[in-house]
Amino acid sequence: MAKVALITGVTGQDGSYLSEFLLEKGYDVHGIIRRSSVDFRERIAHLEGKPHFHLHYADLGDSMSIVKVVDKVKPNEIYNLAAQSHVQVSFDSPEFTADVDATGVLRVLEAVRACHLEKTCRVYQASTSELYGKVEEVPQNENTPFHPYSPYAVAKLYGFWIVKEYREAYNMFCCSGILFNHESERRGETFVTRKITLAAARISQGLQDCLYLGNMDSLRDWGYAKDYVECMWLILQNDRPEDFVIATGVQHSVREFTQLAFKHAGIELKFEGKGIDEKGIVVKGPEKLIGKTVVAVSEDFYRPTDVVNLWGDPTKAKARLGWNPAKTSFEQLVKLMVEHDIAKVAAEGAAAKVRTNLAEYLEKGIVK
Ligand code: NAP
Ligand code: GDD
Repeated sequence: MAKVALITGVTGQDGSYLSEFLLEKGYDVHGIIRRSSVDFRERIAHLEGKPHFHLHYADLGDSMSIVKVVDKVKPNEIYNLAAQSHVQVSFDSPEFTADVDATGVLRVLEAVRACHLEKTCRVYQASTSELYGKVEEVPQNENTPFHPYSPYAVAKLYGFWIVKEYREAYNMFCCSGILFNHESERRGETFVTRKITLAAARISQGLQDCLYLGNMDSLRDWGYAKDYVECMWLILQNDRPEDFVIATGVQHSVREFTQLAFKHAGIELKFEGKGIDEKGIVVKGPEKLIGKTVVAVSEDFYRPTDVVNLWGDPTKAKARLGWNPAKTSFEQLVKLMVEHDIAKVAAEGAAAKVRTNLAEYLEKGIVK
């Protein structure tokens, strides 16, 4: 019999890759989506209609909806990926973030208990390197003290501890993956990497003048989302429930990411100035861009408290799960994201041009 997995947050970056991964492993995959006036299912559109892929409406803010789905699906594994996942947004919507990212985790665990599945259902919790926040040591491993530094991180800290509590109190197989930043061509467009790769693509095609960023000194350990979903699965296949740090072990700044992304888009940048006055100026690339400022800093993207030094140590995951953190390098990641966005922007530009031409032809009576 095929194993049954339930994924919350199936429409997100990780949910879509994890669905593909589990379907390939022969799982029956059930995903939770929330109701909205427009369905945004772009990342899983290619999976809909597949015989082993099923969707259910529920919301992490609504216990009964979760219980109903868990009871119907009776999963062997739950991957709790649903969250308000944007750190900056958590400063504007701290209460909503706490409800989904903290109490939401409790609701999932309680649903497993309410359905009497605690002996048969394993639970993966999408925890985060943001727990290290105002970091107390580098690199960070499973024993590094936590110091959450945003409403998002504080909510996720509750999620981490409630999972640990249920593991010990009720002997449940539930674990947290402490994942460092992972990106892809499906990354949300307001996270810094995707914002940069889309802007590099647009600027190189003359469709945007300047990219405005916040703290460019911020350091992250960036990996490829497709590689990281494998680790979520490995954590649940382990012989005992444990928490793992998932990271590449390599650190780069937002500035380095920007420089490399623009290079892949055919633009060489030189950075001048400091802080709010810093600028990225074109020194090589398309003639009309030479000498132009295409990257600048805006206070709008500064955070009330910012996490600036994330660097993970994946030794435990390598040794215990046999996971390879070096599958996709930083350079390959930036390249694949930029190449994807250059093609996307070009296709959108071509489609817009067709629409403009069509409107013009209609007006002139060339096409009726
Ligand atoms: P994402 O692209 O923002 O996806 C978040 C998912 O959660 C979406 O499917 C969203 O649904 C869903 N969701 C939000 N609120 C919900 C609610 N009330 N009820 C049900 N579903 C809800 O995030 P991601 O990058 O894939 O990350 C997946 C998880 O890993 C998140 O928990 C995130 O906090 C955590 N994490 C991510 C990273 C990273 O670098 N990507 C690192 C560490 C931890 P809609 O499509 O309807 O909005
Ligand atoms: N979003 C954004 N936009 N961030 C910027 C910008 C900008 O214009 N300019 C600089 N940054 C800096 C932020 O201040 C932060 O220090 C860093 O770039 C990364 O920001 P994000 O890409 O928004 O990601 P994050 O690290 O805050 O959060 C992501 O990773 C966490 C794991 O560490 C999210 O995916 C979280 O859900 C995840 O838990």
